[in-house]
This record gives sequence, C-alpha cells and structure tokens, in this order.
Amino acid sequence: MGVANFSVFLLIISLSFFQLLRISESKLPKEEVDALKEIVSTMGATYWKFDADSCNIEMVGVTLEPPDESERRIGCDCSFEDGTVCHVVNMTLKRLSLPGILPPQLAKLPFLRFVDFAYNCFTGTIPEEWASLNLTSISLLVNRLSGEIPKHLGNITSLTYLMLEANQFSGDVPTELGKLINLQTLTTKLDRLVSFDFVSSP
Ligand SMILES: *[C@@H]1O[C@H](CO)[C@@H](O)[C@H](O)[C@H]1NC(C)=O
Ligand SMILES: *[C@@H]1O[C@H](CO)[C@@H](O)[C@H](O)[C@H]1NC(C)=O
Repeated sequence: MGVANFSVFLLIISLSFFQLLRISESKLPKEEVDALKEIVSTMGATYWKFDADSCNIEMVGVTLEPPDESERRIGCDCSFEDGTVCHVVNMTLKRLSLPGILPPQLAKLPFLRFVDFAYNCFTGTIPEEWASLNLTSISLLVNRLSGEIPKHLGNITSLTYLMLEANQFSGDVPTELGKLINLQTLTTKLDRLVSFDFVSSP
C-alpha cells in the first residue's frame, strides 16, 4: 500500500470512527427518531427536519416557512438511565394545516404523555393503537375528525385531559369513557345541537 493510499485509508477509518461516536452519543433511541419521521409523514407534512441531539424541530409542515401562529415542539425527557437516555414525552404540532390522518405510529413512542395536534385538517378517526400509550393529555381541537367517538379511548385510563371539540364526530359520548377515572376535563361538541362539556374534580 502506497503512502497516499494509506493516508486515505486512515482518513476513512477515523471518519467512520467519529461517525460511530456521533451516533452512539445521540441519547434519543433511533427507533423514536425513525418513528417521528413516519408520524409526521402520516400527518401529511411534506417538510421534516429534526435534530435528535437537541430534540429540536428545524422544519415541519406543508410549507417551507411555517405559518406565523403555528406551534412546533417535541419534548424529550433525558432523565432516563441516569441521564444517558432520552425519550419523546411531548408532541405539539399546532396550527400547521396538516392534511393527513392521525398517526397509528404514535404507539412507537411508548413514553409519550402529552399530544397537542389542534388546528390542523386531520380526517378519519383516533387510531386504536393510541390506546397502548399512557397518555395524560390529548388535544385534537379544531380538526375534521368524524364518525363516532372511539370506545377505545376509554382504555387510556391515564388521561386527565381530552379535548375533541370542533370536529365532526357524531353520536353520543360512549359510556366507555366513564372508565377514564383520572379525567378532569373532557370537551366534545358533537354537533350544533348537542353539547357535552363537563369538568369534574377527581
Ligand atoms: C411536557 O409538557 C408538560 C405539560 O405542558 C410540561 O409540564 C413538561 O415540562 C413538558 N416536558 C418536556 C420534557 O418537554
Ligand atoms: C404505562 O403504564 C403501565 C401501567 O401503569 C405500566 O406498566 C407501563 O410501564 C407504562 N409504560 C411506560 C412506557 O411508562
């Protein structure tokens, strides 16, 4: 091997080494980073750029420049395993006019607690997969969700806050939601005639 070749060889080795180091230093599991990408794509975002090291959204939505009023945040809790591991715990994608559906892949973020997807254009319903999460707060205020309010929401017993108002849900609030013993706020305006708002103390 000539000297020039050998230096190139060394260079490649050290580059790969630093690359490995960089990957191993990211505290957010790759599965969660990949899941986020799938999630925003299902939500209809055409732009997505996320810095896993700082847990910072650099770009998201259907336009290169996000609307002025929009809110775009991923919250990572880095207190796991003595501060060596982070998990996604919060997700706020608000007023972005996202045109897709609510992502079943949310279930790939097992530590997620708080989601705020208000003021988008989501159609369809709330995926059953979400019931596997220990969510405490869901806001889907002002979207285009329809059909009956899903019974499986009754299985997310960790919920304290559920905001479904200003969608196109039909029918009654399912009795299964009575299983939500921790619920403090539920807001659903089913249509122009029926209003079901209550606040109960635990
Ligand atoms: C997640 O959201 C809750 C409620 O808004 C907030 O109290 C908490 O500090 C957030 N955590 C992170 C890691 O963003
Ligand atoms: C979710 O809650 C269940 C029941 O309390 C618990 O066993 C499980 O470990 C929790 N999962 C996470 C990721 O916190």
